[in-house]
Amino acid sequence: MVTNNDLAKFIDTSDEWIRTRTGIEERRLADRSKGETTLTFAHQAAVKALEMAHLSGEQIDMIVMGTVTPDTVMPCTANQIQAKIGATRAFTFDLQAACSGFLYGYSIADQYIRTGTIERALVLGGETLSTVMNWQDRSTCVLFGDGAGGVVLQRTTSERSRVIATKLFSDGRLGEILSIPHGYGKVPPHVPEYRNDHHKVQMRGNELFKVAVRNMVDAASQVLWENQLKTTDVDFFIFHQANLRIIDMCAKSLDVPREKMWLNLQKYGNTSAATLPSCLDEAWRSGRVKKGDLILMVTFGGGLTWATTLVRL
Ligand code: COA
Repeated sequence: MVTNNDLAKFIDTSDEWIRTRTGIEERRLADRSKGETTLTFAHQAAVKALEMAHLSGEQIDMIVMGTVTPDTVMPCTANQIQAKIGATRAFTFDLQAACSGFLYGYSIADQYIRTGTIERALVLGGETLSTVMNWQDRSTCVLFGDGAGGVVLQRTTSERSRVIATKLFSDGRLGEILSIPHGYGKVPPHVPEYRNDHHKVQMRGNELFKVAVRNMVDAASQVLWENQLKTTDVDFFIFHQANLRIIDMCAKSLDVPREKMWLNLQKYGNTSAATLPSCLDEAWRSGRVKKGDLILMVTFGGGLTWATTLVRL
C-alpha cells in the first residue's frame, strides 16, 4: 500500500494536491519481490468469483480477461488462468480496451450466452499499471493502482434477474490522449528509436477529463432511454474510478446522489479494467447491493473506449 505521502517523498507532489484534485488517498501496487503480477491478482479474482458462484473451473465455457498489462502477450492471461483453475472446457482470450476492458469482455460474454453458444463465462479485468507508469511523471503516476476483479455470468431463464443491456463505444481518433507509444510493434524494444520513458503511460489529463465526463453521461443516458428507464429507476450506480471530480460531474449531470454509488478510488486509485468489478464485489459483500437491484455501470478508458451496462442482479 502506497499513500500519497509516500509518493511525495520522491516526486514533487502532496497529499493535499492528490486528494483535492482526484479523491485518491492511497493505492495498492504489485510487490514484485513477492512475484506479484497481473496474473496473481486475476487468478485470485477468478477463484473468488467461482467460490461465490458455487462453481468449479470445469463448469466455465469461456474466460475473457480485459488487460493492457498482461504478464506475457503469448500465452495470454486468460490462458494461464484457465490452467490454474482447471477450466479445461473453456475457450480463453484477453482483450485490450484499457479501462473499458471489463465491460467489453462482459458484453461479449453476454452475447455468447444470449445466442445459446455458451452457458457460463468468467469475465475478468486486471492490471499492474505500476509496470507502465513513469514514476517521475507526477501528472500520471499518482492516479493509478494495481488490482483485479471479475464476475461469472451464466444463462438464466429468469425474466427479472439478468443483463438488460450492454453498450460499447470507441473513437480511435482520440487515441493519443491516453497511450503507451513504445514497446510494441511500431517501436519494439530492440530498435534504436525505442525510448524507455515512452514505454509508459502518457496522458493529456485535461482533455481526457472533459471527454470522459461527456461520454460517460451520454452512454448512461442512452442505455436508460433505450430501455425506457429513468435515473430514479436505478438502485445503484458504479462509475469508473478514475477521478472523484469526474464521478461527481457525471453524477450531477445524471442526478445521482452519492448514497447511490460505490467509491473505492480513495483506497486503490484507478485500477483500469478492475475498477468496476472491484466496486461491484465490495458493494455486494457489504450488503449495499442485493439480489433484485437494478445496477448501472459505466466506464471509459484509452482507445478511446467507453461502455455501459444495465443489469438486474
Ligand atoms: N502534484 C502536484 N502538482 C501537480 C501534479 C501532482 N501530482 N500533477 C500535475 N500537477 C500540476 C501541473 O503541473 C500544473 O501545474 P502548472 O499550473 O504549474 O502547470 C497544475 O498541477 C495543474 O495541472 P492540471 O493538469 O491543470 O490539473 P487538473 O486539475 O486538470 O488535474 C488530473 C490533473 C490529471 C488529475 C486531471 O486532469 C484528470 O484526472 N484527468 C483525467 C485523467 C484520467 O481520468 N485518466 C484515466 C483515464 S481511464
